Amino acid sequence: MGERLVLDPARIRELFDLRSQVYAHMGGSYEADPYPEFQRLRASGPVHEGTPGRLIGFTGEEFFQGLPFPERRHFSAFDFETCDHIVRHPETFSSSSLMPGETASLADSSMLTMDGDQHRRYRSLVQPSFVPGRARWWIEKWIEVTVEALIDGIEANGAADLNVEFCAAIPLLTICGSFGVTVEQALDIRAAVTSQGRGIQEFMGIVAPIVAARRERPEDDLISVLVQAELTEDGETHVLSDIDVLGFAFLLLAAGSGTTWKQMGITLTALLAQPEWLDRARQDPDVLRAAIEESTRWNATDPAFGRFVMHDTELAGVAVPSGSVVHPVFGAANRDPARWENPDVYDPGRPMRTHLAFGNGPHICLGMHVARAEMATAIGALLRRLPNLRTDPDAPPTKIIGMYERGPDTVPAVWG
Ligand code: HEM
Repeated sequence: MGERLVLDPARIRELFDLRSQVYAHMGGSYEADPYPEFQRLRASGPVHEGTPGRLIGFTGEEFFQGLPFPERRHFSAFDFETCDHIVRHPETFSSSSLMPGETASLADSSMLTMDGDQHRRYRSLVQPSFVPGRARWWIEKWIEVTVEALIDGIEANGAADLNVEFCAAIPLLTICGSFGVTVEQALDIRAAVTSQGRGIQEFMGIVAPIVAARRERPEDDLISVLVQAELTEDGETHVLSDIDVLGFAFLLLAAGSGTTWKQMGITLTALLAQPEWLDRARQDPDVLRAAIEESTRWNATDPAFGRFVMHDTELAGVAVPSGSVVHPVFGAANRDPARWENPDVYDPGRPMRTHLAFGNGPHICLGMHVARAEMATAIGALLRRLPNLRTDPDAPPTKIIGMYERGPDTVPAVWG
């Protein structure tokens, strides 16, 4: 590790305030508990016509993968078996909104919206940097230094909203660090995203010169991996264009920042509510890992994704026509009583079974091992450095809010 990093707690608080407008169109205003509704829809379905939001009474703007597409019919699935089937059959349930014969625009050309061979070719370029064996690379180069700096900034106060003052900046600074972006520039990207919606331009302005520099002289970072990657298409091998590299990097930032932040907040919320598990996690890194995994099953930050139906088909007895959008509701699938006993209970001691918080099939989360490494390193350091960490008894109870991106409103904690 190099020099110790210094972060200004006031700037962090200002930049990651969850009341910001950016969250409104992802259903940030949704404050009810969706799980009783998910349960009712699973029991009376498990497949229903409608978007996940409308089916549970959410009336706000819906913008996410597979949304809004108002001209199409929408169907949502609420059990594990159907959701798992959808994501494992991309030939019927495509990640691309293009119907046969249509050509891709720039908006349709990220890995998340590709299918088949093209998806495999693009994904395999970055996959080696995201395997479990690479976790230490991420931890030692970028995660630890950020985590320690954030704790330095709050340690003496004896109290913090850990959601904003701790969890929020870790994923952004980790991913930006892996691009070779400085901490100041990473915070500028964040400011551009939240204040003027100018995130992409700010991002391009900062990352494009790094792409040029790494083409000249590669370093030990992710942009260097991308500029050296070779793609074989139609029998011809070529390196990625600048636009491809920037597109890749922007996808990683968009997919990996808010998600890991909020899932870390959800894990801390669950652990602070059950101090006996917090104690056990402090003593045993395996328990901490189980506590993180159980939080993703119990309350996935992204509870629903979308797929585009390529030909007429049927899901759990419901006819689903070509051109519709189906929404596997991973959050509901993860509490399917056919798969988990007492599924509503957060229980890190339960037998581990595959869940869908990171998806499944060819699009399973590319960054899941990095996300797990960030959460384990961060929460592990909090438990090591802040003695007697506990929920703030004077603060109102935490609520987990949001429709398509869920997370705690605050995580008020005290220590010492
Ligand atoms: C706890 C944190 C995270 C959660 C819950 C999460 C969840 C997901 C889910 C459910 C998918 C599948 C989407 C689909 O099936 O259409 C996905 C895909 C993806 N995630 Fe994550 N993610 C997290 C963190 C990250 C991080 C840290 C990164 C990168 C640094 C990342 C990068 C990606 C990418 C690139 C994809 C698209 C993969 C593909 O289309 O092949 N994610 N994520």
